[in-house]
Amino acid sequence: MKIINEMRLDFWPRPENESLARMVISAFIMPVNPTLEQLGDVKTAVSEAVTNAIVHGYREARGLVRLRASLDEEGGLSVEIADKGCGIADVEQARRPFFTTMEDADRSGMGFTVMESFMDEVEVISQVNSGTIVRMRKRLAPAHALAREA
Ligand SMILES: Nc1ncnc2c1ncn2[C@@H]1O[C@H](COP(=O)(O)OP(=O)(O)OP(=O)(O)O)[C@@H](O)[C@H]1O
Ligand SMILES: [Mg+2]
Repeated sequence: MKIINEMRLDFWPRPENESLARMVISAFIMPVNPTLEQLGDVKTAVSEAVTNAIVHGYREARGLVRLRASLDEEGGLSVEIADKGCGIADVEQARRPFFTTMEDADRSGMGFTVMESFMDEVEVISQVNSGTIVRMRKRLAPAHALAREA
């Protein structure tokens, strides 16, 4: 599949950068005219993954969160959120609804479930003490819509 645009953004794991990531991903997908629902879905999924990188991956530690995204000619979005934080010991368990390691901090354990329900595909690659990569895909526009614009 031919890639028609690509971006990368590195930022500090600070809470205010959740909204930065939401804004950047919105602006990035705007050219393929997503519906309001698709826009909301992508922003929410990215925001959940970025929040996880900040609150679980790094906690108080320093490092960078990397957001990468690409769009293909058929309106397929690929987005990746990566941290070099503490990593996840058991990814399968972490992805289960309501599983959280931060009950005390009022977390509901629904972040991965939200990502899965709002995106077409979610892949989690993680290694303890090395970090975590969350890769997600979503089809935003039918092929003919983009072909017409070209
Ligand atoms: N980037 C990450 N680095 C380290 N651990 C992570 C990361 N992302 C998720 N986790 C682990 O996976 C668990 C489940 O994540 P999930 O987003 O589903 O729930 P949560 O963050 O605990 O709660 P919620 O997202 O509902 O506020 C987390 O509690 C945490 O232990
Ligand atoms: Mg979460």
